Amino acid sequence: MEPPLGVTLLLILMITSSAQSCTCVTNKWTVCDQDASGNCTCKLVGSDHTVNCSTLTSKCLLMKAEMTAVKLSFRPRVKLLDGGIYNPECEDSGIFKARQCDEAGTCWCVNTAGIRRTGKGDKSLICNELIRTNWVDIELKHKETSHYFEALDVAEALTHLFENRYKLQPKYIAAVKYDSPFIQIHLKQNKRCDVDIVDVAYYLEKDVKGDSVFHSDSTLRVSVNGKDLAIENIRVYYVDEKPPVFSMKQLLGDISAVVAMVILPAGFAIILVIILCQRRKYRKIKMERMRETEEPILQSF
Ligand SMILES: *[C@@H]1O[C@H](CO)[C@@H](O)[C@H](O)[C@H]1NC(C)=O
Ligand SMILES: *[C@@H]1O[C@H](CO)[C@@H](O)[C@H](O)[C@H]1NC(C)=O
Repeated sequence: MEPPLGVTLLLILMITSSAQSCTCVTNKWTVCDQDASGNCTCKLVGSDHTVNCSTLTSKCLLMKAEMTAVKLSFRPRVKLLDGGIYNPECEDSGIFKARQCDEAGTCWCVNTAGIRRTGKGDKSLICNELIRTNWVDIELKHKETSHYFEALDVAEALTHLFENRYKLQPKYIAAVKYDSPFIQIHLKQNKRCDVDIVDVAYYLEKDVKGDSVFHSDSTLRVSVNGKDLAIENIRVYYVDEKPPVFSMKQLLGDISAVVAMVILPAGFAIILVIILCQRRKYRKIKMERMRETEEPILQSF
């Protein structure tokens, strides 16, 4: 039996109005539902995890949702693989589990950014603790422009952006350096707070790549003294509070896949400096993000 036209119309009206009022501003990978009292509850695509839409979603949960979305064919697969994303296991709190494994049973330990920081092993591999990434370096490049920007103004605009768009308290922005067209931002945070620097970096990365996690038409806009600063490139480097556990052989044999950086033991620091110098030269020529496609690693030089 068909429902009367009035009921159908009312239903359509209710569905559209609830769809409008009930969305998750900070996470488009969600399905939201409004209850009778009008409360909006949003759950991550493909899981039962409830998302707090007034703050950022953790990187682990985002990666998980994106992988689910790929499986459901919400988006082209090629693009995701290019991003070096894997399907992570997250704790209830949303942080990465210290040990991650792939379907083939290969396991490795990650930091709070979800990046591999040890050699690989089998299922017997033990990761005692999740090591904190307490330092994130972001390098941005903006499009050529005829405008001249003062370093101080750029720093101010970006601090404003981080505070408003990514809800990061300015005290975690250790430095912003500007040397046109490159911008370096150092984020430092020793303990996880309501918004983690790693999550902020991930949201920003998505924004710059034109694949914003924010809902609907919330595109990234940075304006310095009323003039557009169009960011076209981003690189993110992660530094953990403890050195990664790669053997020198692993490290030297595969410099192109160095994962997490730590500046602590002398031997390691020297190698790191060499890598950094080479990288810097290379960057001058071409600032382009290169990533591994097969390995569950997010960082490469
Ligand atoms: C809905 O929101 C109100 C006010 O914020 C709150 O008191 C109430 O407990 C919520 N109801 C549910 C079912 O969460
Ligand atoms: C959601 O996040 C905001 C901002 O961090 C916080 O104040 C609020 O308590 C959170 N709500 C829940 C239900 O956790």
